[in-house]
Amino acid sequence: MKTYVVGNWKLNFTVGEASIYLHKLLKRLPVYRDVEVVVAPPFIALQSLSLQIDRHKLKLASQDGYYKDFGAYTGETSFSQLRGLVNYAIVGHSERRYVFHEDDKTIAKKVAAAVRNKITPILCVGETESERAFGEMKDLIRDQVIGGLREVADDNLDKVVIAYEPVWAISSVKGAKSASPEEVAEVIRLIRETLVDAYGRNAAEKVPVLFGGSVNSANVGGYLTIPGVNGVLVGGASLILQEFTDIIEIAKRVRV
Ligand code: PGA
Repeated sequence: MKTYVVGNWKLNFTVGEASIYLHKLLKRLPVYRDVEVVVAPPFIALQSLSLQIDRHKLKLASQDGYYKDFGAYTGETSFSQLRGLVNYAIVGHSERRYVFHEDDKTIAKKVAAAVRNKITPILCVGETESERAFGEMKDLIRDQVIGGLREVADDNLDKVVIAYEPVWAISSVKGAKSASPEEVAEVIRLIRETLVDAYGRNAAEKVPVLFGGSVNSANVGGYLTIPGVNGVLVGGASLILQEFTDIIEIAKRVRV
């Protein structure tokens, strides 16, 4: 399986800045066969970046998408509109869940709509600090995995990526609150067990599982050597060209 390095730009960069950053990134990036490099720019930059991109070097993702194809849904962008423009879509990111109040039902519809439109959803799951403190982490992760995949047919499971992002470890790029490899390993095992219980071992093993939350060039090697981790979802550090290219380079070395 390839190693995934996904950069989530969140609400950062103007269209012009995004284009300049991508230009510099493409110049630095060789074609890696074993590392799938993906960037998720803001919606407004997707169209222009799609014309600029070399898809042998990296792929585009959207940061979200709406499950209805067309209609009276002011402000939304559907997966059917994103079809052909992006290869991946981040779905159910904790900022969508907690800032914009998306629940597992909505997220399940988005995951299914992405698959229907030939876009690979990167389904994000993860517990908050208080859910962990109250011993609710295991149930919550299971619910988010099973709930998020509910509308995906069993034989489409290989078209889905899962990302574990503990909410308490997101956005501290200097590493202040980052999760330890042991903490991550425990939840990665839980996600794999949940997939095995629901879909059987063969199908479960085909699902890439990524880790995200304050990943940077200093800690990425530790996360990528955790059994069952197939890549990383990088926020803050993906906005810094040197950091992001270092992470990709480390991903190449660690996994091959
Ligand atoms: P971070 O963000 O790397 O800045 O913590 C990760 C994410 O939210 O996807």
